[in-house]
This record gives sequence, C-alpha cells and structure tokens, in this order.
Amino acid sequence: MTYKIAILPGDGIGPEIIAEAEKILSCLQTEFGLSLECEHAPVGGAGYEAAGHPLPAATLQLARASDAVLLGSVGGPRWDGLDRALRPEQGLLGLRAGLGLFANLRPAILYPQLAAASTLKPEVVSGLDIMIVRELTGGIYFGTPRGIRIREDGQREGFNTLIYSESEIERIGRCAFEIARKRARRLCSVDKANVLECTELWREVITGLGREEYKDVELSHMYVDNAAMQLVRRPKQFDVMVTTNMFGDILSDAAAMLTGSIGMLPSASLDSRGKGMYEPIHGSAPDIAGKGIANPLATILSVAMMLRYSLDAPALAVRIEHAVGKVLDDGLRTPDIASPGTRTVGTREMGDAVAGALRSGA
Ligand code: IPM
Ligand code: MG
Repeated sequence: MTYKIAILPGDGIGPEIIAEAEKILSCLQTEFGLSLECEHAPVGGAGYEAAGHPLPAATLQLARASDAVLLGSVGGPRWDGLDRALRPEQGLLGLRAGLGLFANLRPAILYPQLAAASTLKPEVVSGLDIMIVRELTGGIYFGTPRGIRIREDGQREGFNTLIYSESEIERIGRCAFEIARKRARRLCSVDKANVLECTELWREVITGLGREEYKDVELSHMYVDNAAMQLVRRPKQFDVMVTTNMFGDILSDAAAMLTGSIGMLPSASLDSRGKGMYEPIHGSAPDIAGKGIANPLATILSVAMMLRYSLDAPALAVRIEHAVGKVLDDGLRTPDIASPGTRTVGTREMGDAVAGALRSGA
C-alpha cells in the first residue's frame, strides 16, 4: 500500500524543520520498506505569495486527496497588515475546517534527558505524560455571528460567539474517552461551567457519556482557571484532558512549557476516519527563521504520530521515538533545550543524527 502525503512547509522555520522530517520519511522508505508518495504545496504566507491566498485551492485539494498532511508552521510579521481573511493563520484554520479535523491531540511528554530544561523543579515534572485532547473545528474559533461593528452611540464593539452542539461535544468526548482507555483511564474535562452556559452543556454531555458508555474511565471536571493553575502546580495528576478549542489552545501551550521546550512537542489533528494533519505545536518563530538553529524534533515526532494514527505503522512510530531518545542520550541539543554538559547543534545536524539513529536501528 502506498500512502499519499501532502507536505506543507509553510512559513518562518517551517521549511527548515520540514526538511529534517523529510530525512526521516526517506529513511522510512529506504530502510523500512514504507511506500510513500509525497507532494509539496504552499500554505500560510507562502500560499499568499504563491497564489494570493493562505490556503490556495490546489493546496486544499491536495490535502483532501492525501492520506495524511505534514505541516511545518505558518505566520510572520510580513503578513500582519493583511485583511484577516488573507492572513497566514487562515490557511491553518481553513485546513482544519476543510478537512473536518475536529480532534486535536497534543501530548506533553517530558523526555527524562530534558528534565533540566524545564522551568519547574525536576520532581514536579519528571515522568510527565499528559495527553490534551482539544476540540478543533468548533467553539469560539468558528462560531458566528462574529466581527467588529459600530453601535448606535458610535462606539465600535467586537464580538464572537462561543457555541457547541451536543453532537460536537459528544464526538470529541468519545475520542478523549477512547484515548483514556488506552492509557491510565483517567479523563479530566475542562470547562467554565460556572459562568458559560455553553460549557455547562459541555459538562452535562461529557458526564452523560461517562455514565452511559465509559464507566471504566475515571472522569473528573475542572474549571479552566483551576486547570491552568493545577498544570503548573501538580501536572502529574493529569492523564488525559479534554476541552474546547480556545481553552485547549491556551492550556496546551502551558503544558508544552512544562516539558522544557515547545520545540519538542508534536500534534495530530484527526477527522472521524483516521485521516490526519500532523504538525509541531510551536509556531513559525520568525525571530530565528533562516538561522539553522530551530529544533526539528517536534516535527520529527509529528511524523511518528502520523505513522501511529494515519498510516497504521505504530512499530515505526516507536522506532522514531527511540531514535530521538538516543540522540538526546548522546547529549545533542538545539539551543532551545541546551543545558550545561550537552553539545549544542543546529537544525540539520539534529535531523541527521535522528535519521542516523533510526537507520542504525533498522
Ligand atoms: C495553535 C495555534 C493556532 C491556533 C493559530 C496559529 C491559529 O496557536 O495551533 O495552537 O490558535 O489554533
Ligand atoms: Mg496555540
């Protein structure tokens, strides 16, 4: 079986980190017999430059026709002045909506080798392994009406709509419960049910699911403000967390930082049939773009998630994760995760080292 992969490098450090992930993809083909057909397309600012739109029609079409999408990152100050509809972020949001990728899986795992890179005490974060399941195609990100309008008194006001239907809550809830079942069977649903009706319904629907279909999973609920506090206070209390689009955006950045660097964390965005888009959770880092110092590991680990969730090759995913562990054991570090006694390397050298470790394990 040949899998078709759409490769969308995007902006900023995107092309640099994607180049390293592609070394891993070619190694999988030459050493492990995986059959892939890869095709590149522009998205984000690159899409705007190439075709006048952050999500060119041909790019969306390619993504739709592929088994999986590997994305670098989008955005940069160069496009800040554009209309909202033409800004790079719309490329990402358009892909999520256009492909129906409602479930965003954001693992926060601390590699033991990087305990010193976290801003939290080692005993608070060592062994950390949380999975955040973020709803990705609904909520306030996509709710209408939205906009900026002029009131009768002449003042402008901005407005957005937080909205979730029962079925939207149910499908993300089910996805999170299923993931919890394969892990430590603990699910914490995060909402703001004390203030927002929309998330009062969220809590009700998740509670019902737990009672009717997932009695074997220990379900708890937490308000989002408390969840943010608990993530930095005692993060290891969490196994799987499920939450709305916006709360998930915020909490996943906080969880990422627990692990030392946002440059380490991959993500998967899935539809209901296993098709997915895979990307590092960090952004396009325009400040370091082109310098060859970006950490490619989150993107490489996103390839591992792609193998696990879309290409039905979990054993190869484990090999990639081991190769990353081996390189960290050897003391190689990009600047974002460097600590005394380690060797600082650039983006390319890090990619080569992981590809080498993967090859030697073949
Ligand atoms: C993320 C990013 C995006 C989001 C932006 C770039 C639109 O922050 O994937 O977390 O808000 O979802
Ligand atoms: Mg974010």
